[in-house]
Amino acid sequence: MKPSLEPGDDGAVCLRRVEPSDLDDFFAHQSEPAAHALAAFPARGRDAFYAHWTDAMGDPEAVLRTIVFQGRIAGNIVSWRASDERCVGYWLGQAFWGRSIATQALRALCLEVRERPLLAYVARHNTGSLRVLEKCGFAIVAELSIAPTASEPEIREYVLRLDVRA
Ligand SMILES: CC(C)(COP(=O)(O)OP(=O)(O)OC[C@H]1O[C@@H](n2cnc3c(N)ncnc32)[C@H](O)[C@@H]1OP(=O)(O)O)[C@@H](O)C(=O)NCCC(=O)NCCS
Repeated sequence: MKPSLEPGDDGAVCLRRVEPSDLDDFFAHQSEPAAHALAAFPARGRDAFYAHWTDAMGDPEAVLRTIVFQGRIAGNIVSWRASDERCVGYWLGQAFWGRSIATQALRALCLEVRERPLLAYVARHNTGSLRVLEKCGFAIVAELSIAPTASEPEIREYVLRLDVRA
């Protein structure tokens, strides 16, 4: 018999600091074709992925959290500084989609990260992510076109901003 529930075991979403051993799960999540189609973000190869996370884990301005749901790693949620902006982003394994996990995780992160405004950049077709942000109080403030490389089609993105603190 289990002596007690660990945080995130009971159906609630729990955020905790990222441990290096979490990266294998994150790598699997970011390699799922449906996910990078939604996010309009190309999957990184293994070396580039681990190099990116190693850099991020050494950044004192970054807030990096593992999302735990029912004792399993559901994904990650992060906040980082890009020049004078503080941004947020999140990524869940496909098996965890559609259970309010991203909404709960973003609410928790917005309570932890008190700086405002918070910015998010979202592909226009990523209806799920736009809804998550809207439910957490973010509003669309701009629309951008970005071209990842000259040979790739341009991506239309919304910029969303949260100004208030809960
Ligand atoms: C986008 C993503 C984070 C959504 O996570 P999730 O835990 O499934 O979202 P939630 O369950 O909290 O859903 C919140 C709302 O969005 C809606 N939603 C979620 N996915 C949706 C989809 N694919 N299409 C339409 N609506 C969707 C839900 O119905 C819910 O709305 P409601 O409360 O009005 O019913 C998840 O699909 C994901 O990680 N995708 C890959 C990476 C990515 O896109 N990251 C974001 C980059 S900006």
